[in-house]
Amino acid sequence: MNMDYDKITQIRKSVNIVDIISEYIPLEQRGRNYFAVCPFHDDHNPSMSISPEKQIYTCFVCGAHGNVFNFIMDYEGVPFYEALKRIADKVGILIDTPKRVNTKPTKIDSIYDIYDIANKYYQNNLYTKEGKEALEYLRNRNFDDDIIKTFGVGLSGKNLLTEVLKKKKYSEDTLVKSGISSSTDGKVHDTFINRIMFPLCDLEGKVVGFSGRIYNSESQSKYVNSKESDIFKKGYLLYNYHRAKEECRKEKSVIVVEGFMDVIALHMVGIRNVVATMGTAITKEQAKLLKRLSLNIILCFDGDAAGNKATSACAKELDEIGVYPKVIRLPDKLDPDEFLKKYGVDKFKEYLDNPKSILDYKIDEYKKETNFSDSESISKYIKNVVLELQNINDSIIREITINKLSNETNISVPTINGMLKKNKVVRKEKESKNVIYNKYEKAEMRLIFYMIRNSEVMRIYKKNKCYFPDQEYRYLVNEIVYYYDKHDNVNIADFITYLSDKEELLSVFNKIDVMDIPEEYSYDEIMDYINLLNDYSVKEQIKKLTEKFKTETDEIKKLEIANEIQELKVRV
Ligand code: GTP
Ligand code: MN
Repeated sequence: MNMDYDKITQIRKSVNIVDIISEYIPLEQRGRNYFAVCPFHDDHNPSMSISPEKQIYTCFVCGAHGNVFNFIMDYEGVPFYEALKRIADKVGILIDTPKRVNTKPTKIDSIYDIYDIANKYYQNNLYTKEGKEALEYLRNRNFDDDIIKTFGVGLSGKNLLTEVLKKKKYSEDTLVKSGISSSTDGKVHDTFINRIMFPLCDLEGKVVGFSGRIYNSESQSKYVNSKESDIFKKGYLLYNYHRAKEECRKEKSVIVVEGFMDVIALHMVGIRNVVATMGTAITKEQAKLLKRLSLNIILCFDGDAAGNKATSACAKELDEIGVYPKVIRLPDKLDPDEFLKKYGVDKFKEYLDNPKSILDYKIDEYKKETNFSDSESISKYIKNVVLELQNINDSIIREITINKLSNETNISVPTINGMLKKNKVVRKEKESKNVIYNKYEKAEMRLIFYMIRNSEVMRIYKKNKCYFPDQEYRYLVNEIVYYYDKHDNVNIADFITYLSDKEELLSVFNKIDVMDIPEEYSYDEIMDYINLLNDYSVKEQIKKLTEKFKTETDEIKKLEIANEIQELKVRV
């Protein structure tokens, strides 16, 4: 974070989280807190509580929680700085753009400006005499003037833009760095010559790059993209993100396609909650962006083998952040654009209304690999499906799947169930180990939970002190103690901001299962946790000393250790 922490706190304090959230969703007061239908999962009853006292929100179903900045970030899908700026603007506090403060200001500013000029230049070109053929190409693909305008489509001409920009006093060096111009044998020229230009925007809709399509020759690559620059990082963007954002909220879903032509084709028929990955494998950052748009993600990649691969890769990336997408597979190797042309929008909507679960999709994929006249292949198929079923808690889905599997393979339901159970035992063993450990982890989590919410609990902890067995919680507690020492008035909402550039601590903090913890606590309860953790560390010490006792050969030292153990045993 580039900004001063105190300033951020000042901005946060200048608003009431209740007022801000109520601008987005209806709130209802119940006792001290406010409640709302959580916008971050498919909620039907108000499960999000907003505390005016603590200035945080918490959803007791999906676990979404944070301060006013986190709410705006997640709701609007904007980065921290943007959320901060919205609040600051609202209350009239001036802040600097961090990008422009810390990283050579003029450079980035001028790249934005260059892209802005280029964008206007290209768009203008399309409607000149030079653009006749390109426009015809677009008309053939059903682009009307509205669509051209909405998506900012243009035409790069005959290598004149570099000169235009140079006349505006941009140096050749800057132009090449921006990617708008390129240098060949020391000569600087336009990067894009005679291509239909599609601007690529950042999350807020500022043009940061282009993709240029050929339209009247077949010899070169179909699309050329701007190279990455200080403002253009392909792996951090999704095509159409800023336009689709609102639409995704309304539709409560986001459709993901490969090509931006697919986005535009769907837009033309009124389906607008769509973004594109633009042909490359999805990155972790892009997965997170999708999650921000909606938890209901529908993957609709090209119907060919590459689209299949992209579907699995994308599902895997989403799985890592706890989202399970649905899948549409289009027939005849078509992409959405081609499908619409061939079958029309109604047929597409039929697909859209019946997306496959990721489980069914995966099973279909395994099935395609299976040779049903080869027993080894069948066995592999069943094992794969059983492994997938391990992650499914819904007993009905499991039963349906098992019955289907049995019908397909002629292997009896009890046999398949047996395989599933055998695997389950292994899993259960692991879980029960966790339970023993969980008693302590639970105490750690709860202590931390109450400690950062109530200075009273902090006082109890400081007076009685206990050792947190898990290093990650220990570090977090140290940070909280440090934070208390530094600030007179501790507020969890500010502590969250404070953690926002300490990634590891923040992820430990977020690990705390807030859904499970009631807001009210008692003194005895806090002491129970502290005592439990103390018992644990004493027991650990006894364990260590016992080991030492066993290996010690010096009789006098042995006696000393035995005494020490004895003393410790009194304490537990
Ligand atoms: P049209 O052929 O115009 O309908 O585009 P499409 O959306 O069908 O493109 P395709 O499925 O071939 O590719 C999907 C996405 O991958 C495109 O939107 C581009 O972003 C990207 N892409 C495709 N071809 C190229 C290429 O030759 N070079 C680069 N850099 N990207 C490409
Ligand atoms: Mn296409």
